[in-house]
Amino acid sequence: MKSQNQKVQKVLIIHGPNLNLLGTREIDVYGSESLDQVNQKIQEKAKELKIEVICRQSNHEGQIIDWIQNSKNESFDRLIINPGAYTHTSIAIRDAITGIQIKAIEIHLSNIHKREEFRHHSYIAPVCIGQICGFGSHGYLLALEAAVISQ
Ligand code: DQA
Repeated sequence: MKSQNQKVQKVLIIHGPNLNLLGTREIDVYGSESLDQVNQKIQEKAKELKIEVICRQSNHEGQIIDWIQNSKNESFDRLIINPGAYTHTSIAIRDAITGIQIKAIEIHLSNIHKREEFRHHSYIAPVCIGQICGFGSHGYLLALEAAVISQ
């Protein structure tokens, strides 16, 4: 049931390429939690916020685009996306977000702006409500709060 003050009910979280390696990949940059552990924290936050959250991960650009395109049909109200390295390369993912007019939030575990220069530019950020980065896995929880309060 839709509560009166809460419009956002269903959120899709997409973890992009290489995020399946969390916990073993560059631990100093991305932390020691596995993706399963991060997803568990996300589900606890979802319960607290009384929303439904579905988490998916893919290493494939086309799969990510298909999920974004289908998100309206699947009745998602918001998209939270960590596009991984596609952040810095994928006009196609950007076009998918624009194409379905779903409100999206970009999230990164690391602060991409204080890393290598090629990570400073995001093709995705300009078509998102906002970007959260640099807070590790806690960023996903902040993104969920932002999804709920965003109009
Ligand atoms: C990342 C940052 C990207 O630059 C990188 O390619 C990733 C992870 C992050 O969460 O910090 O794969 O999106």
